[in-house]
Amino acid sequence: MTFSRAIKIAPSILSADFANFGAECRAIEDQGADWVHVDVMDGHFVPNLTFGPAMCAAIRPHIRGVMDVHLMIAPVDAYIEAYAAAGADIITAHLEAGPHIHRTLQAIRHTGKKAGLALNPGTGIDAVAHVLDMVDLICVMTVNPGFGGQKFIHSQVDKVRSLRAMIGDRPIHIEIDGGVTVETAPLVAAAGADVLVAGSAVFKGGSVGDPAPYGANIAAIRKAAEAAI
Ligand code: DX5
Ligand code: ZN
Repeated sequence: MTFSRAIKIAPSILSADFANFGAECRAIEDQGADWVHVDVMDGHFVPNLTFGPAMCAAIRPHIRGVMDVHLMIAPVDAYIEAYAAAGADIITAHLEAGPHIHRTLQAIRHTGKKAGLALNPGTGIDAVAHVLDMVDLICVMTVNPGFGGQKFIHSQVDKVRSLRAMIGDRPIHIEIDGGVTVETAPLVAAAGADVLVAGSAVFKGGSVGDPAPYGANIAAIRKAAEAAI
């Protein structure tokens, strides 16, 4: 993975057809997705349950590019190796998932994978300053994690702007997760985000049998974001 601040669209397979993950991953990549975003939920850190490492390993051969694994689980450290072995390229853990984020990021980097740090909407960015040398990506949650299809929380745009200033020239991605649409993508792109996760806005109107709408949705979000930079 070579670092670039170009806009990347990362469809979340939380909005995919759950009986067809392999085909859905191939479809979104064929339709222009840059990364594939996998939302891992534990029914404890967030009120929903999704994908274990075995599921990630099963879809890995169906993804040509980047598998971006977002761990919404606590505790998280004990599972990092399993998601690395499953083929994740980026492993993102939440700052709020435990008292030892420094140790967690060390553990992710130790696997050789890129390390991401996610922040819930109510979390400030002060703590990020102390781990900037340990992260490859900062994920700003623009909804409360747990479900797709929620409304974008506008107060997070200022947070993105502050993070972008804090990051400076460091090769750290800013990822936006939650409520990304053609309307909200320009706001976060202008504030300095480069990775846009989108679930419902990418998968709406399409299916594995009719994937062209995925491509139209991805292109529309990308165009709106790029026009704002
Ligand atoms: C929320 C997840 C998101 C979610 C985004 O907990 O982390 O990735 O799937 O879904 P949309 O784009 O529908 O808000
Ligand atoms: Zn996510």
